[in-house]
Amino acid sequence: MHPDDALSFGIEIGDVVRVTSATGSVLVRASVTPRQSKGSVFVPIHWTAPYSSCAEVDVLVGSHTDPISGQPELKFTPVRVERAPMQWHAFLVSVPKPDLTAFPYWALARTKCGWRAEIAGDGPIASFAESVKDLIDDGEPTEAETFSYDNGLGGGSHMQCNSGKLDHAVFWSAKPVEVARAWLVDQLGREQDPASRYALLAGRAGAGQPDKGAIVCSCFEVGANQITQAMREGADTVDAVGVVVNAGTNCGSCRSEIGRLLVTADIREAV
Ligand code: FES
Repeated sequence: MHPDDALSFGIEIGDVVRVTSATGSVLVRASVTPRQSKGSVFVPIHWTAPYSSCAEVDVLVGSHTDPISGQPELKFTPVRVERAPMQWHAFLVSVPKPDLTAFPYWALARTKCGWRAEIAGDGPIASFAESVKDLIDDGEPTEAETFSYDNGLGGGSHMQCNSGKLDHAVFWSAKPVEVARAWLVDQLGREQDPASRYALLAGRAGAGQPDKGAIVCSCFEVGANQITQAMREGADTVDAVGVVVNAGTNCGSCRSEIGRLLVTADIREAV
């Protein structure tokens, strides 16, 4: 949604919002960007029932269709948007597939070595923190090591390594969780140096560790931080970025996003 709309509805990036039409409602996480027109919202179609708690956008669209083309009114559905009153938010990476069906909001996606998920709940954050170590059923391996961190404000993190490899990690907070998601996904299933396992609880790469940032080019798994680094080193066109990091050189669907990074020179570290 557009930043002006987000401001007027009291919605921040990562908040869970309820989008309601005359035919149904969905729960989705808010992305706030000036690229979205004011007064309208965009919701992706990909979140089906096996991968989300309540995000099948089809339920918002009426069953009537254009009499000639058969096209449903996908782009002309009036909706109401409001912030859902979630008490906590969490981000999870896990080798075993998690069962998240007990939570009011969740969205689950496959990764190379397991799963990643966004979760949110309307119960007390302390209850979630108490139950988090039981969130993943991994058959209780004998060589499991667990680590936890409590930030003193209700938020925290919990992780488990099995035979030295990251099996799962959960990060939670009263506000939408800010961690390096793509970097955490990359750590999953990887051997973790005993001296630096605790550092994973921060949810970010330590000094000297590469963090590719949010994935921009899915074909080559190139992240925003890799692209902005290429820009810092002189790549000043989409093609030049492609020469350095391959991004944009296969299907091409990421080229407009790379172009936007070039135009806005948005070289913040991405999460
Ligand atoms: S997503 Fe970047 S080339 Fe396909």
